[in-house]
Amino acid sequence: MSKTVHDSMIRDIRLAPSGQLKIDWVAAHMPLLNSVKEQFEKDKPFAGKRVTICLHLEAKTAYLGKVIQAGGAEVAMVASNPLSTQDDVVAALADSGIYVYAWHGATAEEYKMHLNKGLDFQPDALIDDGGDLVSTLHHERIEQTKKIIGGAEETTTGIIRLRAMEKEGKLNFPMIAVNDAYCKYLFDNRYGTGQSVWDAIMRSTNLVVAGKTVVVIGYGWCGKGVAMRAKGLGAKVIVTEVDPIKAVEAVMDGFQVMPMIEAAKRGDFFITVTGNKDCITAEHFYVMKDGAILANAGHFDVEINKIDLNNMAKNVRKVRNNIEEFTFADGRKVYLLAEGRLVNLAAGDGHPAEVMDMTFALQALSLRYIVEHQGQLENRVYSVPEELDRHVAELRLQTWGIEIDELTEEQVRYLESWVE
Ligand SMILES: NC(=O)c1ccc[n+]([C@@H]2O[C@H](COP(=O)([O-])OP(=O)(O)OC[C@H]3O[C@@H](n4cnc5c(N)ncnc54)[C@H](O)[C@@H]3O)[C@@H](O)[C@H]2O)c1
Repeated sequence: MSKTVHDSMIRDIRLAPSGQLKIDWVAAHMPLLNSVKEQFEKDKPFAGKRVTICLHLEAKTAYLGKVIQAGGAEVAMVASNPLSTQDDVVAALADSGIYVYAWHGATAEEYKMHLNKGLDFQPDALIDDGGDLVSTLHHERIEQTKKIIGGAEETTTGIIRLRAMEKEGKLNFPMIAVNDAYCKYLFDNRYGTGQSVWDAIMRSTNLVVAGKTVVVIGYGWCGKGVAMRAKGLGAKVIVTEVDPIKAVEAVMDGFQVMPMIEAAKRGDFFITVTGNKDCITAEHFYVMKDGAILANAGHFDVEINKIDLNNMAKNVRKVRNNIEEFTFADGRKVYLLAEGRLVNLAAGDGHPAEVMDMTFALQALSLRYIVEHQGQLENRVYSVPEELDRHVAELRLQTWGIEIDELTEEQVRYLESWVE
């Protein structure tokens, strides 16, 4: 057995062949990442570097890990959520020379231990999703932050944390906000979340969506996708928001908008996707219909208040894989999917491979940018350089065989002048 297999902390190495099949499947549907991999194999941008990656550990992220490895890095991977880890994929990674510290259903303590193992690996650079690596480093391992060149952050919630650290002057290395690239949020957050959230809800519940009332809490990039797909499935969609501009947008997109306390009385399905806490609490549970189904697609399991739910329930039982039933004193029941964690990853396979292809091409190229600009960047949150964002869109079009027009020189001049 290889050294990585011995040093990794995984459930069962014998699962590797099944995980490898899953990785092969997504690799066959990720042409952008394949082309980045080919380039990395030639250039070896990470030669001599160690990279720790904290992402939902399933086949697409595993393939990203292998692409970074192909660029010459020694790679360690840890989970960004204990429920989304797929043990067979993790085994395949360990088998292929990547150090992995994760298993499905890790307790809070085990999860923390895995994060620390990933940092004991002494990385030079990081990929983070939700900010757990960066936050562990800054809270518990501050000395180590001096040795980090920088990294890239995947999601909205992680970027909110990074910006808060930057504002207080507490961020000790540069990070690239991958989520804020056009080629990330326009496609991953909107189309990826839109499709995969419904895939997970439908496969978990095996219930019909057409004709039901779906309440989408938060009309950001993810919420737009979830609402759009609910409409496509034939649901009546209600949106709740706190931002008046997003609320206007939702109304003009054809959805009903109302306060959560009103929506709570009407919904058959509730999906939180705000990045905020306490979006559904006791006051809402009190007025919900019998049989309401609750799911969260935001990064942390704080959007649906599980303490309130447990306090109100007279009986709790698991009724299906990934579904808990809460029975209230008046006999009403509500159902919580995937313990209120990101439903599309905890009760599904996450975003489609073609969507993550763009996001992970951005991740890989952003990490290369950070490493190649070592010493030239400040300890700030950077946007993905515009040329990388455009490059990924161009690659996407190329792989689809779609061509577009180019501006003529005269058009460029016209667009740049203010006199004509
Ligand atoms: N499930 C996934 O695969 C996936 C993918 C990408 C992002 N995310 C996560 O989903 C969350 C949302 O991401 P996004 O990119 O859509 O963010 P966003 O900032 O574009 O949208 C969030 C929206 O929620 C609204 N909001 C905040 N508090 C609210 C409240 N109490 N009630 C109603 N609306 C409220 C905000 O006004 C905003 O419009 C984040 O936690 C992000 O990390 C999940």
